[in-house]
Amino acid sequence: MPLTHARRRLRIAVFGAGSIGCHLGGMLAATADVTLIGRPAAMAAIDADGLTVTGPGPARRETRDLTTAADPSAAAGADYVLVTVKSADTAAAARDLAPHLGPDTVVVSFQNGLRNPEVLAAALPAHRVLAGMVPYNVVRTGPAAFHQGSGGALMLATEKGAEDGAEDGAEALADAARASGLQLELRADMPAVQATKLLMNLNNAVNALSGLPLREQVGQRAYRQCVARCQREGLAALRAAGVRPARLGPVPPGLMPRVLDLPDALFQRLAGASLRIDATARSSMWEDLQRGRPTEVDSLQGEIVALAERHGLTAPANARLIALVRDAEAAAPGTAPNWAGTALLAELTSAR
Ligand SMILES: NC(=O)c1ccc[n+]([C@@H]2O[C@H](COP(=O)([O-])OP(=O)(O)OC[C@H]3O[C@@H](n4cnc5c(N)ncnc54)[C@H](OP(=O)(O)O)[C@@H]3O)[C@@H](O)[C@H]2O)c1
Repeated sequence: MPLTHARRRLRIAVFGAGSIGCHLGGMLAATADVTLIGRPAAMAAIDADGLTVTGPGPARRETRDLTTAADPSAAAGADYVLVTVKSADTAAAARDLAPHLGPDTVVVSFQNGLRNPEVLAAALPAHRVLAGMVPYNVVRTGPAAFHQGSGGALMLATEKGAEDGAEDGAEALADAARASGLQLELRADMPAVQATKLLMNLNNAVNALSGLPLREQVGQRAYRQCVARCQREGLAALRAAGVRPARLGPVPPGLMPRVLDLPDALFQRLAGASLRIDATARSSMWEDLQRGRPTEVDSLQGEIVALAERHGLTAPANARLIALVRDAEAAAPGTAPNWAGTALLAELTSAR
């Protein structure tokens, strides 16, 4: 990273101004020149009201100190472009951005799934692409308002593997993020981090199908047992692929399904931190179903099914969840599914 970055405000473009993009952009605007690139209606709402980011807890920040744009050319001159579209839109985002990126622009994927950095790197071969990870939940609470409903530190790939990785492109962004009040950890093992995040995100489909807020859904054993089945299949597929998921919390990844399987009272005692979620927080997959948008199930459960197949294994619980999410996607927007935990578990248990 050129030293000049230490002397002036970073220019950061955020491509995909939805929940994560507006949250990150709204926070980073405190210390960087931020340009949000998003849909015209979303940008008009921010121009009219300013952008409000809240959480975790009662924290609240309002800003008008950023630029909005609907055209990818607004990324020109950016030191960093943070890509925050859903996985299905990543390839198109890279194509849109390609003609406008300067030679030193670093592209960062703050998306779920395993493949987005790879997709970006393939389409933007002249650019450094870094993997990022958002561990918490953000939902839109108004046309220009976004709420962080749980906690945790962002993670960002560093090639040096240490906090002194000043030349690898991650450090200047990490500094700006921390100065703006975001927690951020530089990681040398991002593929392993992404694998663990994938295992955790297997809950997204269960949450979306439950129709319940995350805290209520995760508090019920039958839903957790659905996730545990998916995680066991995921762990087996990752093991077969030679991927060792990183430990990101108190529970080693290999033990996560056993903790999820515990009775409610024991789970509450052991996993108190994972239930520290705002009462209204929901997965972004639930939000997608509400809005009649395609979900990311192919990049989550789909990734496990594909990985299992590549290694001669099966992942029937994950495959069944994909089918149920597909049914929900095909239903009219707003008709959110409301599977009871026991019924969903029976579906997954009988899946072959
Ligand atoms: N939300 C969370 O709590 C959370 C937490 C951790 C990680 N993540 C991950 O972060 C990523 C983003 O999730 P999100 O919840 O922020 O999604 P989101 O709210 O749907 O935001 C993505 C935004 O990008 C827009 N977009 C897509 N293509 C575009 C284009 N070519 N030009 C301009 N705008 C475009 C979308 O508009 P349209 O909807 O009109 O296409 C949408 O507004 C996902 O990979 C997700 O899994 C999310």
